[in-house]
Amino acid sequence: MVLKMKVELNHICKSFGNVRANHDISLTIEAGTIYGILGENGAGKSTLSKILSGFITKDSGKILLNGIEVNIQTPADAIRAGVGMLHQDPLDFPSLSVLDNFMAGRSTLSKRRIKSNTSRSLLIKELRQLSVTFGFDLHPNDRLANLTVGERQQLEILRLLSLGVQTLILDEPTTGISASQKTALFAAVKQLALDGKSIIFVSHKLEDVEELCDRLMVMRQGQVVGEAEVKGRESAELAASLVEMMFGRELAIPAKHEIAIDKTETALTINNLNIEGDRLSLQIDKLTVASGEIIGLAGLEGNGQQLLLLACAGLLKPKSGSIRINNMDMTHRAYRNFRKAGIGYLPADRLQDGLIRGLTIHEHFMLRQSNSGFFINWSGTRKITEHAINTFNIRGKPSSKVEKLSGGNQQRTQIALLPDYLSLLLMEQPTRGLDIESTLWIWKQMIERCERGMMIFFVSSDLDEILQYSDRILVFSGGRVSQPMDAKTLTVDKLGQAIGGKFE
Ligand SMILES: Nc1ncnc2c1ncn2[C@@H]1O[C@H](COP(=O)(O)OP(=O)(O)OP(=O)(O)O)[C@@H](O)[C@H]1O
Ligand SMILES: [Mg+2]
Repeated sequence: MVLKMKVELNHICKSFGNVRANHDISLTIEAGTIYGILGENGAGKSTLSKILSGFITKDSGKILLNGIEVNIQTPADAIRAGVGMLHQDPLDFPSLSVLDNFMAGRSTLSKRRIKSNTSRSLLIKELRQLSVTFGFDLHPNDRLANLTVGERQQLEILRLLSLGVQTLILDEPTTGISASQKTALFAAVKQLALDGKSIIFVSHKLEDVEELCDRLMVMRQGQVVGEAEVKGRESAELAASLVEMMFGRELAIPAKHEIAIDKTETALTINNLNIEGDRLSLQIDKLTVASGEIIGLAGLEGNGQQLLLLACAGLLKPKSGSIRINNMDMTHRAYRNFRKAGIGYLPADRLQDGLIRGLTIHEHFMLRQSNSGFFINWSGTRKITEHAINTFNIRGKPSSKVEKLSGGNQQRTQIALLPDYLSLLLMEQPTRGLDIESTLWIWKQMIERCERGMMIFFVSSDLDEILQYSDRILVFSGGRVSQPMDAKTLTVDKLGQAIGGKFE
């Protein structure tokens, strides 16, 4: 028997203080369909998803599953009702094994505590079977911390399925994963829909929604601004109408950026660099970068791109070779010397490595200013914070805790906190999870900085972003690095082949 679940949300409202995150939201998702939710950063997509999956309680409105009203107060209530959510920021346990993570949440469903070896072995069997069904390569005894974002996501989907979920909410699942993991994910999602499951797919990427969804709705400032059928629509026409719904206007995508760089002015030189990571070692024979240049680092996640960024940030000592920046040999210098030399780092995991959970925007600016002694100048930094919130268009107040900001606003805050002058900026996934408007805005800021001489190394799993913004591209594959390729002469196809390891 195929279990099917129709989901109806009626007049859902939720406010946080005076922010109306969801206002009078009604929608119906038929069983066996994939329903897209699009919308700019802060539109209220995650809030709505969390209400349905019990992580947030609504202020008012009704949730009906197969026509029957349900009372979902906690994630366990949601799982019991058959609704599970894959979160935008992973909620798993990195220090535990794959199997332990797979088992998480089971005790809320059954009175029996599942501890005996037999049940462990049954679960191993189930995990293996599910992995095979969906073509995932997960091993029960691996430590979760050693998995890529895409693999952790695959595990979480399998965990939810094994808990009996009939409605699966995926909150921006394609932002941190490789192209092949995306293909595997989409195939799995399509299979689940065929099996009668209802899928809610939250995304910023029009092409993903177009490829996957049957229907979609667009949210703006907490409200539904439109619903559309996806299947059978002509792509350009659908895209234009969606962008207009999302932002209330059309966005001009800039032509590929060109900065007049004096290529003779070498600002960074790498010679015979060898860096040992946990899983692979990276070798770069020679690389010279001119001031103002943008170098895109392409490749599947975990192929050495991050090792290069860490070494250039002074966070990982190379085994051999040298890094010179602005005629200074930085190779064996301490991290603080790298900071002094104007090297900045924008990490991918904004709440883990970039910002401090629990602290407000104001407190982050306090920390940035506070290296001049013990005196804490609250009112002075409040002005600086307010100014930054205005200049960088951050939707939040000085007193907003950073973890409560939407992804786009967290990234704007990270950028606002960067020193005014940098010689080299290292960025991981700079626009992961951001809407088109924020993406364009962030790159505009970066290009202005490059015009003043700042170099950029950036890692992105979005090939279009790599091609659009890089001057030259390095492709990483298993610790090998390609010769720098001129972004002007590359196509997505050629880049894809290089990422697959086809380069000399
Ligand atoms: N726990 C919370 N406390 C206070 N405000 C919140 C909380 N969660 C969300 N908000 C606010 O509600 C609004 C909607 O946020 P939400 O995270 O739902 O947006 P989103 O559409 O998922 O954005 P993104 O695309 O950036 O992920 C934002 O203004 C956000 O700052
Ligand atoms: Mg969100």
